[in-house]
Amino acid sequence: MSVALITSMTLSDVPAVGVVERRNYPVPWSDGIFRDCLKAGYLGFLIKQHQTLIGYCMLQIGFEESHVLNLCVDSAYQRQGHARKLLAHMETVSVARQAQMMFLEVRPSNPRARALYEMNGFNEISVRKDYYDTPTGREDAVVMAKALVA
Ligand SMILES: CC(C)(COP(=O)(O)OP(=O)(O)OC[C@H]1O[C@@H](n2cnc3c(N)ncnc32)[C@H](O)[C@@H]1OP(=O)(O)O)[C@@H](O)C(=O)NCCC(=O)NCCS
Repeated sequence: MSVALITSMTLSDVPAVGVVERRNYPVPWSDGIFRDCLKAGYLGFLIKQHQTLIGYCMLQIGFEESHVLNLCVDSAYQRQGHARKLLAHMETVSVARQAQMMFLEVRPSNPRARALYEMNGFNEISVRKDYYDTPTGREDAVVMAKALVA
């Protein structure tokens, strides 16, 4: 069994991340959004297998709370536990930085992601109306939260 390794994302990783992003989201982030996040001090993480980028995530840590801004595993590598591993890593980093709550938004039309988050202890707390762009208009976001235990 090959081991997947998690490392920090830097600006030089953005072009490769952008390729995976565009393959896996109907409305992908631009490379500029990833760069802006890193420049703002948000924490990006990569997961790689044999030097191949198979997924990544972006985490914003604020006062006593953290916010998952992006989490993606390339389609060829999905359903092998990589997203769960990235989520656990973000949780560990959040706890280490004294966050007590972790938040994220997810599209109601994304049952895979919702199942992942529910399985990992996130609960729905609210809905943001017309939060996301879609190829045909707008879509609400389900806001989910998890209390972190140090
Ligand atoms: C959602 C996503 C990150 C899941 O990544 P993944 O590496 O396949 O997830 P994991 O293998 O860690 O799965 C963990 C759990 O999530 C749920 N899950 C993941 N894929 C699923 C699927 N296709 N159908 C149903 N449940 C699924 C399951 O509960 C799964 O546990 P199990 O395999 O033991 O049943 C991935 O599908 C993805 O990147 N999609 C495109 C981008 C995206 O939608 N990101 C989320 C934005 S909020």
